[in-house]
Amino acid sequence: MPTVLITGANRGLGLEFALQYAADGWRVHACCRNPSTASDLAELAGSAKGQVVVHRLDPGDFSAVDALADELSSEPIDLLLNNAGSYTQGGYAAARPEQALGNSDFEDWQNVFRINVFAPMKMAEAFVDHLASAEQGKLVTISSNMGSIGLNDSGGSYGYRSSKAAVNCVMRSLSLDLAEKGIIVALLHPGWVSTDMGGPDADITPQVSVSGMRRVIGSLQPEQSGCFKSYQGKSLPW
Ligand SMILES: NC(=O)c1ccc[n+]([C@@H]2O[C@H](COP(=O)([O-])OP(=O)(O)OC[C@H]3O[C@@H](n4cnc5c(N)ncnc54)[C@H](OP(=O)(O)O)[C@@H]3O)[C@@H](O)[C@H]2O)c1
Repeated sequence: MPTVLITGANRGLGLEFALQYAADGWRVHACCRNPSTASDLAELAGSAKGQVVVHRLDPGDFSAVDALADELSSEPIDLLLNNAGSYTQGGYAAARPEQALGNSDFEDWQNVFRINVFAPMKMAEAFVDHLASAEQGKLVTISSNMGSIGLNDSGGSYGYRSSKAAVNCVMRSLSLDLAEKGIIVALLHPGWVSTDMGGPDADITPQVSVSGMRRVIGSLQPEQSGCFKSYQGKSLPW
């Protein structure tokens, strides 16, 4: 039974990843900041009889990341999904004033970097041995087309865009540095998805997005390590 570890698994894309991998027979380590309010995840764990384990983890709390890596030290992890992410600490609805030109909130920007850039790097550092000990470890980070400099034709969203561009850069370096350990590294754009972050007007549902991303993840080969792809498998410009 392959194993996946997912950050931000209590809602949105992370929850959908947990549901789909569990339904497919994977062992799921589902991480979230506050298990006591993660009722959908608790329901999944309850029905999955030990196959889904819920962990309290804020990936921005680096000592907690180390502690979880220690706790799971005997377990190979086939897939580490850096999914937790933030548009702004105030939530998407507050995004315009906080990330508008002339109104930059640099403290907020720093917090967005902590969860979108530093946390995926910390997760990679802490879980590298778990990935290396799997038959084919994969480190996948949910990025965004908003992190693509080449695709930016609408401006704005300074904090979020720069954080996703930065995590693209970080993961690309990791793909080269982890090649000798046989770990595949990839960045995925999930599409514009109807989650709390994507809002109700989004193009696709979490089910469609995650089904597509799972297909892409499943087909990743070592020679593709370092790629940046959409949920439909299309290569995206940096
Ligand atoms: N939805 C889209 O259209 C879209 C498009 C492109 C990329 N993405 C990316 O997809 C990923 C998942 O997003 P989503 O759409 O599922 O969003 P979501 O429904 O808002 O869920 C975000 C998840 O990230 C966690 N999170 C947020 N801020 C955090 C923080 N400061 N520290 C720790 N955890 C935090 C949340 O945990 P809490 O519940 O504890 O807050 C939640 O589990 C993100 O990386 C996002 O950037 C989404």
